[in-house]
Amino acid sequence: MNNKVKIAVFASGSGSNFSALAEACKNGELNAEIVLLVTNKPDAYAIERAKKVGISALVVPPKSFESKDAYEQAILSALQESEVEWIVLAGYMRLIGPVLLSAYPSKIINIHPSLLPSFPGKDAIGQAIAHGVKVTGVTVHLVDAGMDTGPIIAQHAVDVVDGDVEKTTEAIHAVEHYLYKDALSELFSR
Ligand code: GRF
Repeated sequence: MNNKVKIAVFASGSGSNFSALAEACKNGELNAEIVLLVTNKPDAYAIERAKKVGISALVVPPKSFESKDAYEQAILSALQESEVEWIVLAGYMRLIGPVLLSAYPSKIINIHPSLLPSFPGKDAIGQAIAHGVKVTGVTVHLVDAGMDTGPIIAQHAVDVVDGDVEKTTEAIHAVEHYLYKDALSELFSR
């Protein structure tokens, strides 16, 4: 398909959502091209996944910069060089700051493993299980300056499995891997 939307995926960890999105781009379910993987973690497994599918990985350790602005400015230069149109966060464990927010207004999207506004922040699945909820889920939302607070684009409920973090995480990931590509596909066609 022509006119593919150029996206950068930001990830800090395993990158299973990165791989699901890369697959959706490859098989045409998502009319987009991942032009860059951006990570703050030199040991993120997402880097290996990017190598396997021939996507460039930009490793930017925040400690190498004197400020958050300088860190984000370095990322922004790379995004602009690759003509990135949307930033897609997939397990990126840092708050987005003013440099990227102002360069990509309403063009940064995140996926979070709970039904926001419940359980924002780290370990959302652990938080939900510790709270004793029976149903949790997945939220796709636009990113603003807050922690998991931007306008909600899509949500899907997921049952907590046996009060168990590992089993529930597996169920949540399975939903994430189709919800994210569907939500992005809908957003890009607007
Ligand atoms: C996902 O559960 C996502 O919702 C959250 O971080 C996790 C990343 O998983 N923001 P992976 O690295 O894509 O496997």
